Amino acid sequence: MKKVFPSSFYNLVTLIGTAIASISFGLILFLVLLESVSASPKPYMGIIAFVILPAIMIAGLIVLVLGIMREHRRERAGKPHGLHLPKVDLNNPKHRRAAVLFGGGTILLLLLSAFGSFKAYEATDSDTFCGETCHTVMEPEFTAYQFSPHARVGCVQCHIGSGADWFVRSKISGSYQVYAVLFDKYPRPIPTPIENLRPAQETCEQCHWPKHFFNEKLHTNKYFLSDEGNTKWELDLLMKIGGGNVEAGPTSGIHWHMNIAHEVKYIAVDTRRQVIPWVSSRTPDGVETIYRSTENDIPEDSLKKSFTRRMDCLDCHNRPSHIYNPPAPSVNHVMALGWIDPTLPDVKSVSVQALNTDYSTKQGGLDSIRLFIKDYYESTYPDVASSRPIAIDSVVTNVQRIYSRNFFPEMKVSWKKFPDNIGHMYYPGCFRCHDGKHVSDDGKVLSRDCNTCHTILAQHFENDSLRISLGGVAYQHPVDIGDSWKEMNCSDCHNSQ
Ligand code: HEC
Ligand code: HEC
Ligand code: HEC
Ligand code: HEC
Ligand code: HEC
Ligand code: HEC
Repeated sequence: MKKVFPSSFYNLVTLIGTAIASISFGLILFLVLLESVSASPKPYMGIIAFVILPAIMIAGLIVLVLGIMREHRRERAGKPHGLHLPKVDLNNPKHRRAAVLFGGGTILLLLLSAFGSFKAYEATDSDTFCGETCHTVMEPEFTAYQFSPHARVGCVQCHIGSGADWFVRSKISGSYQVYAVLFDKYPRPIPTPIENLRPAQETCEQCHWPKHFFNEKLHTNKYFLSDEGNTKWELDLLMKIGGGNVEAGPTSGIHWHMNIAHEVKYIAVDTRRQVIPWVSSRTPDGVETIYRSTENDIPEDSLKKSFTRRMDCLDCHNRPSHIYNPPAPSVNHVMALGWIDPTLPDVKSVSVQALNTDYSTKQGGLDSIRLFIKDYYESTYPDVASSRPIAIDSVVTNVQRIYSRNFFPEMKVSWKKFPDNIGHMYYPGCFRCHDGKHVSDDGKVLSRDCNTCHTILAQHFENDSLRISLGGVAYQHPVDIGDSWKEMNCSDCHNSQ
């Protein structure tokens, strides 16, 4: 046999290394080929094709080099070198059987590893992979996602979408993420990829297109005050979600911002886009109105340098899937369902307090919640504690459930870390612009009127008469705080609840 490589190449160790390296290389080629013909690209396939298999390939190459070095050393030491492979004689039935067995085995092994890498390739695209493989890391996002309206929309449909350039980007960042998790180099909480999110036109609008918005939507909210009797009250809001479609009538309403003909642009001074000193609105006939904040005015020259963003879905719906609820609305919700009994004294405020404490681990939080609630009733209302143990147990279970769905101390994730822009109660949201303090040069104010975005159809306090009007009733703040709710942002008080 003519030797193509230097003689030191021919030793068992080097040959094994070569086999490992070339099989991995073949599998990488196979995956890349598979990916190029596949109709639905699998973003995290990069982890196998560009991280795991190359690692095995490099290991193979190292073995190969080690083999050569060892062989050199043997040569220098005068030991006989060269590979002494057994002579195979196919006329010998024993040899023949061994060769068939060995050949068959190799082919089977190759087929199996091709099948295995194909399966792995499929798996990287699944939501279980995204959400569960890196369990603690992604637990908050995955948990919130499972209880969101998008629980059946794949992670990749919002985070990757289709198209070649995003596909390549996601591969590079996907490979980096695997490295970060393996070596514990990731930040807690995981920062929001706000700059790198795909434009909404390519993700959200594939399923919800702006023309679809033309009706209104009723919210019936039930609340319980933090007093001893948990005073109940109700609020009916008719959300004006129209505005997206000229053919469906006048284009007014919340989705007016999204009407393609309109252009709303803004400048934010922080990366989370929470402080917005400058807003511009251009109507279809080209008239531009610029609103500036009277509180956070920025100088003209730094304005020119700033990045101007055109508003899209994500400026309002930034948490469509990873919703971490604040304690107060979560407790109101389960009380309205009757799972927490509203006749238990102080139950609203005790539950909210239990959830508002910082705990360092999830299990620690769950245990402390139980102790806190039980202790509270045993010390403050001993007869309630002894006569209604089942109702109190149910408070514990429900508060614990709220805690485990919305708080992730190990990852430092909770509602406080991720502002949701959809309303104005717990975070600045719409009031980042509509705070009544954004004024144009000719004195027009970006409206904060309570009936601009929703009509307050009805408000009803327990033990009080029902106030109702199709044209909208004047809002009455549930506890007397004077006129401060008219001047301050709601979130100035409510983001600490
Ligand atoms: C309906 C669209 C949608 C789906 C489905 C979705 N995400 Fe997200 N995700 C987003 C948006 C939008 C953001 C940015 C949030 C922001 O700007 O505050 C985000 C942010 C994140 C973040 C950054 C941390 C954070 O909470 O801001 C992670 C991690 C994440 N998503 C993981 C996942 C995983 C894992 C899945 C699947 C189990 C998934 N996402 C499904 C839209 C989605
Ligand atoms: C693959 C399709 C798909 C994509 C992509 C998608 N959604 Fe959805 N979305 C849905 C479905 C399905 C529902 C549930 C509809 C229902 O409950 O009637 C939904 C519901 C919603 C709702 C109503 C939630 C509620 O509380 O009723 C909003 C708001 C929403 N999506 C916004 C978004 C935004 C913003 C994005 C982009 C980040 C997005 N969606 C991406 C399919 C999608
Ligand atoms: C980046 C700034 C900004 C944010 C954030 C914002 N808006 Fe607006 N909004 C505007 C501008 C600008 C106008 C147009 C005012 C004008 O020139 O008449 C407007 C107008 C409106 C209108 C009136 C549309 C019509 O029919 O004429 C509604 C309703 C509205 N916004 C609802 C909302 C809601 C709800 C939110 C929060 C989910 C929100 N906006 C968040 C800037 C913003
Ligand atoms: C100015 C802020 C704003 C923008 C921009 C915006 N939305 Fe909305 N959207 C809202 C509000 C507010 C609601 C009502 C929320 C509620 O009922 O809790 C809503 C409701 C929805 C709903 C639920 C409708 C229903 O019938 O229940 C969907 C779906 C939706 N938006 C998708 C989108 C998509 C897709 C885009 C981008 C094309 C978009 N929105 C842009 C503020 C906005
Ligand atoms: C720029 C639009 C806009 C204006 C102006 C506005 N709201 Fe709202 N409001 C919203 C949106 C959007 C929601 C729904 C948020 C959600 O779906 O969680 C909301 C929700 C609410 C809620 C229910 C909050 C909760 O989570 O329980 C109350 C109460 C409320 N608004 C009161 C008011 C009052 C009082 C005013 C006048 C000072 C006002 N709103 C002005 C857009 C607006
Ligand atoms: C000066 C502080 C302050 C401001 C500003 C304020 N609130 Fe409140 N709000 C309170 C207090 C205190 C309560 C009572 C909380 C309780 O009993 O649990 C409350 C209760 C509420 C509740 C019932 C909450 C629940 O979980 O049951 C709603 C809804 C509400 N406020 C809406 C608003 C809206 C909308 C605005 C802005 C237009 C606003 N508030 C501005 C202090 C404030």
